[in-house]
Amino acid sequence: MAGHLAGKNIAVTGAGNGIGRAIALACAAEGANVVVADYGVSIEGSDPSSEVADAVVAEIAAAGGTAIAVAGDVSQMEVGQRIVDTAVENWGTIDGVACVAGIVRERMLFNMSEEEFDHVVAVHLKGHFTLYKAASAVMRKQDTGGSLVGFTSGAFVASTAQANYSAAKGGIVSLTRSAAFALRRYGVNANCIAPAAMTRMSENVPFEIEAGGPEAIAPLAVFLMSNAARDITAQIYTCTGKRIAVWNQPEELRHMLAADDEMFTVDEVAEKLPADIGVEEMPMFADLERRMKEMAEKKAAEESGAES
Ligand SMILES: NC(=O)c1ccc[n+]([C@@H]2O[C@H](COP(=O)([O-])OP(=O)(O)OC[C@H]3O[C@@H](n4cnc5c(N)ncnc54)[C@H](O)[C@@H]3O)[C@@H](O)[C@H]2O)c1
Repeated sequence: MAGHLAGKNIAVTGAGNGIGRAIALACAAEGANVVVADYGVSIEGSDPSSEVADAVVAEIAAAGGTAIAVAGDVSQMEVGQRIVDTAVENWGTIDGVACVAGIVRERMLFNMSEEEFDHVVAVHLKGHFTLYKAASAVMRKQDTGGSLVGFTSGAFVASTAQANYSAAKGGIVSLTRSAAFALRRYGVNANCIAPAAMTRMSENVPFEIEAGGPEAIAPLAVFLMSNAARDITAQIYTCTGKRIAVWNQPEELRHMLAADDEMFTVDEVAEKLPADIGVEEMPMFADLERRMKEMAEKKAAEESGAES
């Protein structure tokens, strides 16, 4: 089958629903053999089932493609290894990995339990490590290298009721950048997508989001795993389907130096820091005010609707 991923072997985690499913279907339509990895859990990560992964494999097969299901928890090292081994043992190589599996456990930081924090960080951040580690060990020995695609979120910058999710998504950015940094010499690229798509995960977001269907994220993911994108690495791309944007690279903006190469005193910092290097505004503060207003208006409208 011809296509942008012809002859490639790709693993997609979270491939049973939403964005992951759309990417798995698109990879198969573009000529790849696909490992459909999904634990079949609820949005909050409970009630696992192998049925959703099997259903996507059946969909791919019905469309004439080749896919194998792996139902397991991607936060487990053994599952990450099994996903990669499934591609290598059946088809010879692992050429691309898209880590799309995810859950949400929303709570304000001061109310969040240790379990809610650990669970979200495990599925998202460790769920990338398990795949990146197993896949890069194979990719570095292949002449053809490979591609790693991480799924972060605009929420990596900050989130009010999802500090666990935000922290995990920030970790995914750093993990993916480190993979890009370490693996370029082996012909492996690593990039992040910060998607916005209407899925079961996003349907409860209490403010307007710029988003289309999950299939609108797949073209960017396919491109990043294709040969045409091999020199693109260490990037973060927002993708809403209609709009794709590249993020800046974090770097120091301004600095100040202690006199005579000595260290600063607290008094010197207090005097010089505001004047010499100052602060950088977090753009999301303005966004937060807009969202709070929207949510208050929505709540008021719902309450007045309920009364009448
Ligand atoms: N939908 C959006 O607008 C949006 C925005 C920002 C980021 N994201 C990210 O994109 C990714 C996909 O989100 P979605 O909206 O398609 O979600 P979704 O809930 O529709 O699908 C997530 C899939 O991940 C699977 N999964 C969950 N935990 C797993 C585990 N431990 N092991 C294996 N599979 C597991 C689920 O079974 C499910 O099929 C997530 O990482 C999410 O954080 C989505």
